[in-house]
Amino acid sequence: MILTNYNQIFIQDCIQGMQQYLDNGEVSVIVTSPPYNLGINYGKYDDTISRNQYLDWIEQVMQECRRVLSENGSLFLNLGYSSRDLWVAWEVAFRLRKMFVLQNVIHWIKSIAIPRSDVGNYPNILGDIAVGHFKPVNSDRYLNRCHEYIFHFTKKGSVDLNKLSVGVPYQDKTNVTRWKKGKGDVRDRGDTWFIPYETIWSSEEQRPHPSSFPPALPAMCIKLHGIERTSLVLDPFMGIGNTAIACLRLGIAYLGFEIDETYAAVARQRISQEMEASKEKKTQHDC
Ligand SMILES: C[S@@+](CC[C@H](N)C(=O)[O-])C[C@H]1O[C@@H](n2cnc3c(N)ncnc32)[C@H](O)[C@@H]1O
Repeated sequence: MILTNYNQIFIQDCIQGMQQYLDNGEVSVIVTSPPYNLGINYGKYDDTISRNQYLDWIEQVMQECRRVLSENGSLFLNLGYSSRDLWVAWEVAFRLRKMFVLQNVIHWIKSIAIPRSDVGNYPNILGDIAVGHFKPVNSDRYLNRCHEYIFHFTKKGSVDLNKLSVGVPYQDKTNVTRWKKGKGDVRDRGDTWFIPYETIWSSEEQRPHPSSFPPALPAMCIKLHGIERTSLVLDPFMGIGNTAIACLRLGIAYLGFEIDETYAAVARQRISQEMEASKEKKTQHDC
């Protein structure tokens, strides 16, 4: 370890930061969402560079990520797409094929609609369901985009996961005792994860970042990898600090890089608030 202290966000380019602060294999889990090359209006980063430039750059970042990731580590790479550019996430994934094994592809479901009539006989579903949020697409050609990808890369494709840590209760409770391997009322959730945003910013309030993920997303990735096997989580594109917030909630050390000081300031403020809130909770609990 080159650093004396983890739990920091550096306002710095992530490649330089990883080279400066992180030893080979020092990181257990990387959870991150790089810019998507879709022309998103970030404060500092130019998201309009050519596709080839972008892919070359992502490859360099990921080479450095590979170096700092432990042999049994997990890299969870969240990527989106646009209606006119559906390939971009897969183009990135394909570039990484020479350095990682793609062990799982998780679909982050932001919104889903389930008409009661499609469901069949599920006693818990009493009516039509429509949950979550998405930005409506105003076009006759394209569907609303209600999901993004989380590519789970590992070095050898052989990392055992703690699937039940993000498991869900059985619908049919007779399954709780039926399966020998069963561990109570919890089953593998599979590769579709419904994760709604925690807060929808009100119309008076400016959204502090144009493309953040909710803290539940990194939290689930870290739990899936296994909390007990995770000593350090890295987010090279920390944005407004959602990976750091997830780590605080799970009691795990984090490090992050972010080139935009405005986003980093929001991240630091949110981290202080989170720490205050958890201190208050602890005091109430101790009283
Ligand atoms: C998709 S956003 C990540 C958002 C983050 N997951 C969150 O929930 O707030 C990508 C971020 O990468 C930052 N960024 C772009 N180039 C960077 C670089 N070379 N080093 C570090 N951060 C960079 C951008 O400023 C942007 O905040």
